[in-house]
Amino acid sequence: MALRLSISARNVFGRLPSSVSRGALTRTAIRSINTATQAAEVERAPTSSHFNAKDVIAKEAGYMVATYSRPEIMFERGEGSYLWDTDQKKYLDFTAGIAVNSLGHADKGVTSVIADQAQKLIHLCNLYHNPWTGELSRLIIDTTRASGAMVDASKVFICNSGSEANEAAIKFARKVGKVSGNPDKTGFVSFHNSFHGRTMGSLSATPTPKYQKPFGPMVPGFKYGQLNDIAGIADLVNENTCGVIVEPIQGEGGVNVASKSFLIALKKRCKEVGAVLIYDEIQCGLGRTGELWAHAILPVEAHPDIMTTAKALGNGVPIGATIVTEEVAEKIVIGDHGTTFGGNPLATRVAHHVFSRLSDPEMLDEVKRKGELLKDELEEMKLKYPNLIEQIRGRGLIVGVQLKQDPAKIVAECRNRGLLILTAGTNTLRIVPPLVITDEQIHQGLEILDGVLADVAEET
Ligand SMILES: Cc1ncc(COP(=O)(O)O)c(C=O)c1O
Repeated sequence: MALRLSISARNVFGRLPSSVSRGALTRTAIRSINTATQAAEVERAPTSSHFNAKDVIAKEAGYMVATYSRPEIMFERGEGSYLWDTDQKKYLDFTAGIAVNSLGHADKGVTSVIADQAQKLIHLCNLYHNPWTGELSRLIIDTTRASGAMVDASKVFICNSGSEANEAAIKFARKVGKVSGNPDKTGFVSFHNSFHGRTMGSLSATPTPKYQKPFGPMVPGFKYGQLNDIAGIADLVNENTCGVIVEPIQGEGGVNVASKSFLIALKKRCKEVGAVLIYDEIQCGLGRTGELWAHAILPVEAHPDIMTTAKALGNGVPIGATIVTEEVAEKIVIGDHGTTFGGNPLATRVAHHVFSRLSDPEMLDEVKRKGELLKDELEEMKLKYPNLIEQIRGRGLIVGVQLKQDPAKIVAECRNRGLLILTAGTNTLRIVPPLVITDEQIHQGLEILDGVLADVAEET
C-alpha cells in the first residue's frame, strides 16, 4: 500500500520550518501537526507498504540534526537475523544494531514481555520501589559471580545507555579518589582507539580527535595510553590516578583485543596506587565472546572494580548498568547520583528476560562454536584475497577483518547485495551479528562478502 500522507500532513511537511523560525506556532497549528503526524503513522503501519522511501527521507531529513550519514533506504521490520526495507528487499544483518539485538529482531519472548509489562507499569520514579530494578540487579550480580567473572561484583546502578553507564563509572571512581585523603587523586586514564561514549565525561575518555575536537575543552584530568603497552603502565597510572577505563576488546576502535598480560599488569598497578579499574563491556560483553563477560577468561587478580554494560542488555530497549564491588559501593551515598528513567520497570523487566537468556550456558557455547566457524571461513577468505585482507581479529561473534584498503565501497556493495556489515577503526570490517544467527546465515553472509571481495580483487 502506498504511503498517502494526508493533505494536512503534506501542508505541514512543506510549511513547518518557516513557521517554526517565525516562532508563530499557534495551538491550532500544533494540533494540526499532531493530527497529521498521527495520520502519517497510521498509514505507514502496514508491513508491506510501497511508499517511496527516497521521497519521505528527502522530506523529513530537514527536521533532523545532521549527525548521521545514512544510505537512502528505510527499514521497516525485522525477524531474527533479517531486516526488510520499505521495498520489501531482505537483508541479512551482520550488525545487530551495533551489537544490540543479540536475540535478533522481533524476538517473540522480548516482544511479549514488553507487551505484558507495558500494560502493567512502564515508568515509576526512583523515589519508590518497583518489582524489577532490584530483581535485575540481583540477577546480574548472582549470575556474574557464578560465571567466573568479576568475583567481587556486589551492587548495580541502572541507567539508560552505555555513555551513561560509563559516566556513572567515572563519577564513582572520582568519588573513591575524593574520599581517599589525597586531594589530587582525580586523574583518569583511558586508551587510544577506545570508545566510551559521547557525553562529556565518557567523551573525555575517548581520545579520538574527530569525536573530541569539535567539543573541547574536555573534562580535565584525562590521560591516554596505548593498549597492550605493558611498559608504559607504570608512568601512565600513578598515585593521583583515581580511575582507569579499558575495553577488554575495543569495538569501535577496530576489534582490538587487550592481551591477558596487559590487563593483569594494569590491575596490579591500579591496586598499587589505589585506582579503580573499570572494564567497559558495553560492546564486547553479555555473551558476545561466548563468555558471559569478555574478561571471564582472566585470572581473579585481573577482575575489575567496576564494569559497565548496555547495548545488548535490553535487545533494543534502552538500558545500561554500572556494576561495582562493595568497596566502591560503600563510597557512594544517597543523593550522589541519579536518573529519571534509569531502572524503570519496563526496561528492567525486559533486561531481566534478555540477561537470563544471554547468560544461558548453552547459548554461550553456541556463540563460541559459531564464532569459530565464522573465523575459520574468514581465515580461508584471507588466503584467497591476500591483497585485500591483512588480519582476522576478535573472539566469538565480535570479529574484525583488517583490510588493506578503505572498506566503504565493500560495505556499500554488500548492502546492495543484501548484507549489512559495519566498519570500525582504520579499514576494519566489523562483524557483530545477532547471537542467534544460524550456521546457514553465517555462510550466506560470507558468500555475499566473498562475491564482493572477488569483484574488488578483480578491479584492483
Ligand atoms: C565500548 C562502548 N562503550 C560505550 C559506548 C556508548 O554507548 P551508547 O551509545 O549507548 O551511549 C559504546 C557505543 O558504541 C561502546 O561501544
